[in-house]
Amino acid sequence: MHTEIGHDIQQAADILRSGALVAIPTETVYGLAGNALNEDAVLAIFKAKNRPFFDPLIAHTHSIEEIGRYAAEIPVRLLPLMERYMPGPLTVLLKRKNIIPDIVTSGLERAAFRIPDHEVALELLRSLDFPLAAPSANPFGYISPTSAAHVYAQMSGVIPYILDGGDCRVGIESTIVGVEGDEIVVYRLGGLALEEIESLVGAVRVMSESSSDPTAPGMLTSHYAPRKPLIIGDIPALLQTHKDKKVAVISFTESYDVPYKYILSPAGDIDEAAKKLFAAMREMDATDADLIIAKGLPMGGLGRAVNDRLKRASHPL
Ligand code: TXA
Ligand code: MG
Repeated sequence: MHTEIGHDIQQAADILRSGALVAIPTETVYGLAGNALNEDAVLAIFKAKNRPFFDPLIAHTHSIEEIGRYAAEIPVRLLPLMERYMPGPLTVLLKRKNIIPDIVTSGLERAAFRIPDHEVALELLRSLDFPLAAPSANPFGYISPTSAAHVYAQMSGVIPYILDGGDCRVGIESTIVGVEGDEIVVYRLGGLALEEIESLVGAVRVMSESSSDPTAPGMLTSHYAPRKPLIIGDIPALLQTHKDKKVAVISFTESYDVPYKYILSPAGDIDEAAKKLFAAMREMDATDADLIIAKGLPMGGLGRAVNDRLKRASHPL
């Protein structure tokens, strides 16, 4: 299959209406989109990503009103968050109406909904009369794409069209929340910082434990992973331990004398570091280094989500 990269929203819409797939830009990461109401289109997404069916997909829409067409109810506890951060890097789990097929939610009672804060994606969604199921546009388990070129590197030949909306502004996936009892639960740390959520709705429970349990959504242990071994810890100490190897270092602000390095934010800006994290992993993964060494960020703001991604990406030699 020939894969085109372009800016034509109409063309993307036509392809999606025909039941085929299009990679779309969002402010978090690129998504691999198909008609969420069309089981064959959704099936094609799982196949293209080589994704197990127990890992459910997010349905993307352009408005809260539109979410109301597909969700059976919206808990009042979530409304302040939804009104403030939709569009934005927030995904909510809501009891679904039957119009959302089982394959989208892996049979779960709740479906995940998100409104991307990206003009190209919003214009596309407004021109369609169905929501878009869209996981990140990477093969299952690999690093999420934050540019059209990242998508092309892995999805060329697999999908007909990549809608180019530039580099993703946030750079890590959305924060996923839902309600259990009268508690707000965060199921996946992401592009909306915990502090922002708690300043609006008070304390929440974070289910950040790594897991291979598919009912603990978005939390599969080995995820976002480069192919090379990635080790997290104190960089000078790790360089000492691995001094006989060719290493690539991903650091926050500091520079090291190594064959390959990526400094996430020389100015020490956590948001910039989050935005660059996946590009850094890809770039270091593409070198001939034996391993990648990285250090966690300070925990505030998006640092927590970045550290979660690093932890999931890490695997020993
Ligand atoms: O920022 C994002 O969320 C990006 C962009 C493209 O919107 N999408 C994304 O999708 O990261 P994906 O499929 O790579 O990750 C979505 C996660 C999955 O790991 C899944 O477990 C969880 O959301 N999820 C989806 N539907 C769910 C549901 N009904 N119940 C629980 N978890 C769900
Ligand atoms: Mg993903």
